[in-house]
This record gives sequence, C-alpha cells and structure tokens, in this order.
Amino acid sequence: MIRIEQVDMVFGAGTPDENVALSNINLTIEAGDFVTLIGSNGAGKSTLYNVIAGSYIPSKGRIFLRDEKYQTDREITKEAEYKRAHYIGRIFQNPLLGTAGKMTLADNMMICHKKGYKGLKISLNKRMRERFQEQLRVLDMGLENRLNDNVELFSGGQRQALTLLMTVMSRPGFLLLDEHTAALDPRNAEIIMGLTLRFAAEYRLTVMMITHNMAHALKYGNRLLMMDRGEIILNIGDTEKAKLTTDGIVRRFRDIKNRELANDEMLLN
Ligand SMILES: Nc1ncnc2c1ncn2[C@@H]1O[C@H](COP(=O)(O)OP(=O)(O)O)[C@@H](O)[C@H]1O
Ligand SMILES: [Mg+2]
Repeated sequence: MIRIEQVDMVFGAGTPDENVALSNINLTIEAGDFVTLIGSNGAGKSTLYNVIAGSYIPSKGRIFLRDEKYQTDREITKEAEYKRAHYIGRIFQNPLLGTAGKMTLADNMMICHKKGYKGLKISLNKRMRERFQEQLRVLDMGLENRLNDNVELFSGGQRQALTLLMTVMSRPGFLLLDEHTAALDPRNAEIIMGLTLRFAAEYRLTVMMITHNMAHALKYGNRLLMMDRGEIILNIGDTEKAKLTTDGIVRRFRDIKNRELANDEMLLN
C-alpha cells in the first residue's frame, strides 16, 4: 500500500550540524499490515512518519501509494501534507493534540464527521447527535452523555480515545501511531491499545505503531521493524515474529550492530 524507495532525510546538509536522520530506507507496507516500530530515541522513527505523512520532503528517494482498487502506484513523495491527510491519519503521544479543548465534544465530532463526507452540507441536528452518541458508546467511557462539554474537561485517556475515534471516523486507510499510549497511565494505555486493535480490524486499517514497549511490539501486529541511527536494521515478518522474544531482539541487535543495546535505550518491559 505504501512503498518507500531509497529514502534519505538529511537535516542541515552541508553545515557543521549535518544530521542524517534517515539513511537509505527501503520499505513496503502492505494493505492490512499492522507494523510495530521500535528503536531508541533519535533513531529516526518520527522522521520516517514525517516523510510518509508529508511533513517533510525527503532529501532523496521516492514514496509511492498503491491504489488497491485500480492496482496502480502513484508517487506521493512531494504531495502536500494536507492532501495526504485524507488517507493518512496520525496520532501523537500528547493526548491534547488531536482534539480542540475549547470546543464541545459535539463540535469536535462534527468537524471530523465532515472530513469523512467532503462537500456535503451537514448540520448538527438531533439525528446527528444520536449518531455521535452511538459512536461514542463504543469507547465505553460515558462520553455519549457529555456532548455539550468542552473537551478540555476530559482526562488524557478520554481525549486520546476521542482522538482515535475521530481519526478513524474521518476514514483514512493508513494510520500512523507515534507512541500514542506512552503518556497515559497503564490502565488507560491498555484501554487505548484495545480500541486501537478493534478499530484497526473494524475499519480495515493499515497501521504503523511506534512503541517504546518491546513486549507490545512483539505481541501486536504482523511485522516488526527496528530502527537505529536512521536505518531499518530489523524487518521481521509474521512467522519469525511469533517466535521472537525480547532477549532475541537484544541479541539480534548485538549481532547486527556489533554493540550492546544499552538498557536505557529502550524500555525492556
Ligand atoms: N526538524 C528537524 N531538524 C533537525 N533535526 C531533526 C529534525 N527532526 C528530527 N531531527 C533529528 O533527526 C534525528 C531523528 O529524530 P526522530 O525521528 O525524532 O527520532 P525518534 O522519533 O526515533 O526518537 C534526531 O537526531 C533528531 O534530532
Ligand atoms: Mg519520535
């Protein structure tokens, strides 16, 4: 569904601060994949998302989007971010980023609902409210009774759940999750993870999930990627992934990089 060919991202090229954040990235994400992505701080994970989503144009290389219906590839390397936002959804660590705090829940829902039905004139009538309530009920957080509350009154877990719901409601085919449970307490992190899996299946999403949690990276999805210093150093598919352990990842890292993965580089839980 997304194919990345020989992509480099160099910041401050030709200056003393030159920083190669991505180096010769080659990667194909198939439709329906759920890919987990690990790697220590500064490995280039978010930069990879930035070039996929169009926040940055890569210094080199090309990115293609496959149209499954017509079986054609279209190059999107330089397509504007707002255009890609129609088919790429992105969720960040900060639960306050995905929703507008000073607006009511109903208005927040309305904005994302309109995104899913471009051009149609829709107003916030009784039927629409009932529909939102039905969608909110899925979250199992009682938010269906709070349509008139400003979203800033909600907890971090509630806001991240909303962000997730609103993102999938706007119907992207592809979802980029950037440590989207890392800022939550363990209970809410589990709730958000459960909703993520549920929505991924129900909406048939293709998902990439950056996580600091190696156990999660192993447990979820059908492919695991590990990045280090701008490179994808591990790309492990279904069968092999099922047999892999946290210790196995650490060993593989040592074999490939000829150095130890420092304990504090990643949470080994
Ligand atoms: N806008 C930018 N300008 C300069 N350097 C950047 C920028 N964004 C990221 N970097 C650098 O690129 C490298 C990779 O960063 P990032 O992709 O955020 O890592 P990760 O998400 O894996 O922690 C880091 O060295 C970071 O400092
Ligand atoms: Mg990051």
